[in-house]
Amino acid sequence: MKQTIIIFYVICLITPTLAVKGIDIADAFNNFSCFKNAGYQFAIIRGYRSYGAIDPNGATNMKNAQAAGLITDAYFFPCKGKISAAQQVSDFVNAFGLEEENSTNGLYGTVWLDVETNPSSGCGWSSSDYTANCNFLNELVANFKNKGKLIGIYSSKYQWETIFGSSSACAKFTSLPIWYAHYDNNPSFSDYAKYSFGGWTTPNMKQYNGDQTVCNADVDLNFY
Ligand SMILES: *[C@@H]1O[C@H](CO)[C@@H](O)[C@H](O)[C@H]1NC(C)=O
Ligand SMILES: *[C@@H]1O[C@H](CO)[C@@H](O)[C@H](O)[C@H]1NC(C)=O
Repeated sequence: MKQTIIIFYVICLITPTLAVKGIDIADAFNNFSCFKNAGYQFAIIRGYRSYGAIDPNGATNMKNAQAAGLITDAYFFPCKGKISAAQQVSDFVNAFGLEEENSTNGLYGTVWLDVETNPSSGCGWSSSDYTANCNFLNELVANFKNKGKLIGIYSSKYQWETIFGSSSACAKFTSLPIWYAHYDNNPSFSDYAKYSFGGWTTPNMKQYNGDQTVCNADVDLNFY
């Protein structure tokens, strides 16, 4: 028993050193092996743009990231207003395939739904109807689930408050992984208690810095 406890402590102590770092990227890029060489192990590639269309560079970026040996996910910046949730999800699936069930065959693993202020014309979250915003996110989630996709949510406490009215609102997605943003340049979850939202008690991934230049590309930095 004592030994078990000691082993448990040792595991707890070494866990922080096992942090896996990665980048997320929006622009077309063709040197993903540079990220790999710089110590990053995953890439989250933009697949859907804030103005309501597939990212035409997404599939090539995903292929190049995979070819470089990076774990590859996608992110999806939804447009609320111009196009239905169902249409956006089906456009995404048509562009990037349905095969993530066997992620070695598919272009990506998890699709991360971007819950943040959308500046694109006709695509913004409602500024007055928080319930409609929550329902729209729910529709996206339901449509992706219907397609058998792995999904997660990306947001921050501030964005959640802005879009849903409070940090505790719309707490209906806690069965999905949460990727939160807080730019303290610290690849650690130790800040999460102060920056939690949406009902998630334990985070899965953190974006700890934004708009950084790595390998001559504009990326955000993440860890899990
Ligand atoms: C890709 O990145 C590597 C550094 O990892 C660099 O040496 C190489 O010149 C880059 N290739 C291109 C085509 O930019
Ligand atoms: C995943 O792989 C299994 C076994 O190879 C196959 O039967 C199944 O159709 C694949 N699923 C998808 C979505 O490709």
